[in-house]
Amino acid sequence: MQSWALTILVGITLCVLLSGCAAVKEELGLLPPPGEEGAATEEEEWGELETEEAAVSYANDVQPIFEANCTRCHGRRRQEKKLNLTSYPTLVSRNVVSPGDAEGSSLYQKITLPGSGRMPLQGDPLSQQDIDKIKKWINAGATDN
Ligand code: HEC
Repeated sequence: MQSWALTILVGITLCVLLSGCAAVKEELGLLPPPGEEGAATEEEEWGELETEEAAVSYANDVQPIFEANCTRCHGRRRQEKKLNLTSYPTLVSRNVVSPGDAEGSSLYQKITLPGSGRMPLQGDPLSQQDIDKIKKWINAGATDN
């Protein structure tokens, strides 16, 4: 055989052996199987979806609580302490919520007071569920969401 032909033959053999190497190692468990990283990413995306689902919306969750319990005294006609709870802009203009800090917000303090002065004034306190919604909304940044 010619020496150049031998060189090519050896070259091809080496090529085949090297490219097959990764697959063999994988079978022996020396390399992680492809797709493992992909699985972790899927889990993260799922977690994000769950958080979004639990978010409290101002328009859909918080405003209806105000309409049902507060606007007869904090509405367009009657506005105790000039606080109008019929819309997001009028609410935030009175600085009764500190975004991200429910406990430091006078609105949250007023609905959780143990005794006199609790809002709604002269009525039953808000349900724990409603109080939790308002708390969650303020702690999430009190946005017009
Ligand atoms: C029966 C009438 C009435 C209802 C209903 C009512 N309030 Fe009030 N609210 C008042 C009065 C009167 C004041 C002023 C006296 C005071 O601060 O205690 C006041 C004051 C407030 C203040 C303080 C405002 C400031 O600038 O100091 C907040 C906050 C408040 N109310 C929130 C609410 C919320 C939230 C609701 C519904 C869950 C509500 N109120 C329902 C009568 C009412």
